[in-house]
Amino acid sequence: MLNRGLVLGAVAAIAAQSAQAVAVYGQCGGLNWTGSTVCDAGSYCLYSNPYYSQCVPGTASTTATATTSSATTTSTTTTTSASATPTSLRGLHALAKAKGRYFGTATDQLWTNTDTAYLAITGNSSEFGANTPGNQQKWDATEKSRNVFTYTNGDYEVAWAENHSQIARGHTLVWHSQLPSWVSSGGFDNATLISIMENHIANVAGHYKGQVYSWDVVNEPFNEDGTWRTSVFYNTIGPSYVAIALRAARAADPTAKLYLNDYNTDWTGSKSDAMYALAQSLIAQGVPLDGIGFQAHLIVNSFSRTFQANYQRFADLGLDVAITELDIRMTLPTTDALLASQAENYKYVVNACLAVSRCVGITVWDTSDDYSWIPSVFPTQGAALLFDANKKPKPAYYSVADALAAATVKGTWS
Ligand code: XIL
Repeated sequence: MLNRGLVLGAVAAIAAQSAQAVAVYGQCGGLNWTGSTVCDAGSYCLYSNPYYSQCVPGTASTTATATTSSATTTSTTTTTSASATPTSLRGLHALAKAKGRYFGTATDQLWTNTDTAYLAITGNSSEFGANTPGNQQKWDATEKSRNVFTYTNGDYEVAWAENHSQIARGHTLVWHSQLPSWVSSGGFDNATLISIMENHIANVAGHYKGQVYSWDVVNEPFNEDGTWRTSVFYNTIGPSYVAIALRAARAADPTAKLYLNDYNTDWTGSKSDAMYALAQSLIAQGVPLDGIGFQAHLIVNSFSRTFQANYQRFADLGLDVAITELDIRMTLPTTDALLASQAENYKYVVNACLAVSRCVGITVWDTSDDYSWIPSVFPTQGAALLFDANKKPKPAYYSVADALAAATVKGTWS
């Protein structure tokens, strides 16, 4: 339903604006930009990257951009302050980076996306310094038929990240889900499945060699009780499939950080203990392993608050840790109370990472609620992210910014 007050306000603002002013979500700066750098009333020019600045709703906490019209030199600074007005952005990645961490988001099907507000925030390297392709590097996307590899969509996502000054987290090489039936139901023997898995990793990680910061090499290997998940890989190869996959990934891309990634491992418990025992055993065997990813798909007020100690014990093994897919869902509709709890929960999670120096970064599983995977998988739930469907920052956005700004432990990411 249209909000009559908003519409009238917008009409008045348009009438009052100077002929030169740029409309909301229009370009207002960037390399060789010769147009206006002044935004419509109620919006300001937000620096995105050296090539692009964009008018976004709200008020900059300080002057956000200083672009010159013929800019071969575009001098831009986005400064943040605790007194920022409620609709201004604070620069989550910029805040995280100052504390030795990255702050990232995940995206899906960017090549079809014409939502300029979404793209402006998602591609703003002050907000997000890392990008994880949500689906495009999975087995069903990259090797739908045996030994026939497709990279078009994955390449789009990785290039988009690079063009927006973001690192890319590769996701994911070996997973029981989004796995074509030619693999899961192929009836392969041990040796054949090992060679299929090694070939997949050699090709996909080889294709992105040098282009991704990290790979989630094995995704979700455990059941909730800490027993091994019975995927085709585990059933056919046994637990050694993890070591084989990690070795293949190292051979294919020696500079990518190699991760194991799972959910409901953020707190101490059977599943996290299983991941810890696996990490210890892999390290003892000399298997290449650089980090543990904690997905952190959470429900508002429904998790055990032992994250920091849990992350720390993995870090104490000499591993990086990262929060890789953070979202905190609630039963819809949203209420102010739920959004306030969500903000507090986000702050708790971010603080747990920020207290551990080897917690190198945090990735949310997409930017705004209208792009979240949650409603399609958990039908009565949603509103799990930092921006609402109108691309307006939620209370959780500001609590995360506050946590990042207040962090005292320097991280090890650079
Ligand atoms: C999700 C995607 O976001 C959805 O678009 C897709 O339909 C299913 O997968 N854990 C993971 C991610 O490691 O790959 C999943 O992503 C979410 C749960």
